[in-house]
Amino acid sequence: MEGLHPDIQSIILGEDDIRKVIERLGREVSRDYVGKSPLIVAVLRGAFVFTADLMRAITVPCSVDFMAVSSYGDGVKSSGVVRIVKDLDTKIEGRHVLIAEDILDSGLTLSYLIDLLQARRPASVHVATFAVKDIEGKVPAIDPRYVGVHVPNEFIVGYGLDYAERYRNLPYIGILKPEVYK
Ligand code: PRP
Repeated sequence: MEGLHPDIQSIILGEDDIRKVIERLGREVSRDYVGKSPLIVAVLRGAFVFTADLMRAITVPCSVDFMAVSSYGDGVKSSGVVRIVKDLDTKIEGRHVLIAEDILDSGLTLSYLIDLLQARRPASVHVATFAVKDIEGKVPAIDPRYVGVHVPNEFIVGYGLDYAERYRNLPYIGILKPEVYK
């Protein structure tokens, strides 16, 4: 394995750890969706890495589509009101939809997205999130059906997660050194 990126303080989830998590999630999803041909909806941008791995660990027939959302102003973390930047190309009426997210923080983005997709009358909507951020005293707005890992409330990047659009390509999840963002 290559050396640690100089901006990373420590690794909290290495490539082998990630692989094991993906294998487990793939088994869970495959077991639950037998005969259902789910549509995996990746929420850009962060989820594209997780989605690519998850899909390859799913053994039932499935398809993929993409959505991109953006906050109104900079209040998305608190308000949860998001704007659709890119909508699905797929009609989801009657389909089993599985939203793939990289990280669940407040859960407000997903809560909004679930309501939006439910209005299109899919057969079901569930969420697979690679990570859930554990924040003391806070409970996320939604309860995802599939959870990869719980991560501490640190500034983490890699495996799709960015800081200012950087570090998404790191094959592990690590804590960013504070001097990088301060
Ligand atoms: C991140 C992440 C979720 C959202 C989680 O996206 O991918 O969509 O924040 O936060 P919440 O649970 O508090 O709503 P971000 O806005 O950083 O966009 P990105 O995926 O393009 O990095």
